Amino acid sequence: MRVFSGVQPTGNIHLGNYLGALKQFVELQDDNECIYCIVDLHAITIPKDPIQLHEHVLDVAALYMAIGIDPKKSTIFVQSDVPGHSELAWILTCSSYMGELSRMTQFKDKSKGQESAPTGIFSYPLLMAADILLYDAEVVPVGNDQKQHIEITRDLAIRVNNRFGDDTFVVPDGRFIKAGARVMSLDDPTSKMSKSAESEMSRISLLDDAAKIKKAIMRATTDSDGIIKYDPVNKPGISNLLSIYAAMSGESIESLEARYAGEGYGTLKKDLVEVVKEGLAPIQSRYAEIRQSQELIDVLKVGAEKANAIAEVTIKRVKEKYGLGIGI
Ligand code: AMP
Ligand code: TRP
Repeated sequence: MRVFSGVQPTGNIHLGNYLGALKQFVELQDDNECIYCIVDLHAITIPKDPIQLHEHVLDVAALYMAIGIDPKKSTIFVQSDVPGHSELAWILTCSSYMGELSRMTQFKDKSKGQESAPTGIFSYPLLMAADILLYDAEVVPVGNDQKQHIEITRDLAIRVNNRFGDDTFVVPDGRFIKAGARVMSLDDPTSKMSKSAESEMSRISLLDDAAKIKKAIMRATTDSDGIIKYDPVNKPGISNLLSIYAAMSGESIESLEARYAGEGYGTLKKDLVEVVKEGLAPIQSRYAEIRQSQELIDVLKVGAEKANAIAEVTIKRVKEKYGLGIGI
């Protein structure tokens, strides 16, 4: 199957990104044709410092490789290096409606309280749909928070297919995993772990050192009833720690509940610190090596060439359907 996904180059990748999305990228590459993108065009929906943006693009590319995405098996490239993304996004814009875009929760959240919302945030889902449809992707591994964006991608593909025929777009499916699919903030377990939260203690980034990992986990917000039980509604803090533990160690939540029955939260937290440290150590040492190497740039160049070759075929087909251009 053809697999496509993307991550924004906006600061350090955290455990939520890793457990919710990136871990699946690695698992999928053995049996599928995987294309993994660093979506820098999405990043500029909010103004970015150009030098920092460039660094973040390379950071994410290096992290992709550090977590185990193998450029010999998967295609890794930067979105803006393939012009087809912007081109198809415009074409899809002309098959979309203001109403459906206004209903996106991400747009509502990000534009709340603003006098005038940026157009880029409004049309963000169309660029994401273009990313996916450009590669005839069948499977899109993402975190739960992207469900609505996958839905609108499917709606757009079906709408265009109804007009021009089912050979226009492949209708993709999202792939959402259970354990860790939604990692919550450590200091406020009722909201999700995010790159943009102000508090550093709310998240663990994949490149955090041992001291930071320990501090964030030991300080994580829990409740006062002292029972280690998975119950996200009534016990969001402990449930979040259990699901991070399960996702990082591969042990099931039930087995963790049984093993820690009668133990204090402190014991669970201390053990989780070790599990997270051990899980991240090999990623961090590979990252340090790759981030400095010329190999990284070479991988992105080859990736862009491979991606372009696929994208050009789709663009030609779609332009023909719409009657655009002179068929060259
Ligand atoms: P972003 O940081 O928004 O570019 O997200 C990259 C990927 O990580 C997407 O597939 C998201 O759905 C996923 N993701 C982001 N935050 C979380 C979270 N707290 N829990 C699970 N998945 C997440
Ligand atoms: N919107 C996604 C996020 O914030 C990133 C993204 C952009 C993406 N294009 C994509 C994910 C295409 C999967 C497929 O996480």
